[in-house]
Amino acid sequence: MTIALLGTGLLGSAIATRLLACGERLTVWNRNPERGQPLVALGAQWASSAAEAAAEAEWLITVLNDGPTTQAVLIDQVGAALQGRRVLQMGTIGPAESQQLADAVAGLGGAYLEAPVLGSRPEALEGRLQLMAGGPAELMEEALPLLRQLSQEPVHLGPVGTAMTTKLALNQLIASLTHAFSLSLHLVQQGGVAVEPFMALLRSSALYAPTFDKKLQRELSGDYGNPNFPTAHLRKDLDLFISAAQQAGLNSEGLSGLAALLQRSSAAGLDGLDYCALHQLTAGQTAAARPE
Ligand SMILES: NC(=O)c1ccc[n+]([C@@H]2O[C@H](COP(=O)([O-])OP(=O)(O)OC[C@H]3O[C@@H](n4cnc5c(N)ncnc54)[C@H](OP(=O)(O)O)[C@@H]3O)[C@@H](O)[C@H]2O)c1
Repeated sequence: MTIALLGTGLLGSAIATRLLACGERLTVWNRNPERGQPLVALGAQWASSAAEAAAEAEWLITVLNDGPTTQAVLIDQVGAALQGRRVLQMGTIGPAESQQLADAVAGLGGAYLEAPVLGSRPEALEGRLQLMAGGPAELMEEALPLLRQLSQEPVHLGPVGTAMTTKLALNQLIASLTHAFSLSLHLVQQGGVAVEPFMALLRSSALYAPTFDKKLQRELSGDYGNPNFPTAHLRKDLDLFISAAQQAGLNSEGLSGLAALLQRSSAAGLDGLDYCALHQLTAGQTAAARPE
């Protein structure tokens, strides 16, 4: 099978590396060509435009920033070259944005499966992503040999929108759990309690989530460099969740404070750092974290 991948950022480059390691023929394109060069060194073909990448491909994988970017690249730039192509849209976007893309791709003669993932670069490199798919069941069947190289158990959840909804539901938990743990960690430290006894109590309780320990060292050391998943994407995903929840008639007021806090991440210089840099905002010490 011939595959083209658009967007060789943090996740896209790891997915591309995995596909190359599995022996796939892969063409890659990225807006900033420098970010695609390590993949060329691994055997990928470089395309100088998104449309050129799509021209020869049976499968077109998109791993771009957000919905508007994916729409611009896929519909405006690839456009007519979507005829007869099958799109696997792996970036995290809103369910309504995904439906719009599906309609636009179909209008151009292509087929569309949304395939967002839980997990990050290490899981992508090892083919252990948790992959959710939404779209036609037949397309899912056709995609399975490819998807199984990235995920041990790709799950088909239903029509377009269902996988993105599920992905946002999971990422809301990432944001909320990270925020909740961060505040509690700060408070016990401010109260003169040693971290280890607090963690021991937490670990043996029903409140514990493995993500707490996964992020603890970064939070204690304040080292948020070399991210797999940056703070800017967490903010995007929480905003998408809130908007989907509002459309569903839910009361998401409880998340407004967290969304407002994450809005301060740009001014605090945290956007490109690991998402648990949120811990710096909950400390309340940076000018960016203080209410105006
Ligand atoms: N990283 C993860 O662990 C992870 C996990 C699950 C889901 N995701 C989702 O996957 C998607 C990609 O995430 P990432 O972490 O790989 O992000 P990233 O490193 O920031 O990469 C973003 C990609 O989008 C491209 N892009 C941004 N704006 C563009 C524009 N205006 N025109 C064309 N291309 C543009 C970037 O190109 P340039 O290099 O030229 O800027 C890059 O290829 C996001 O939706 C994210 O939420 C990420």
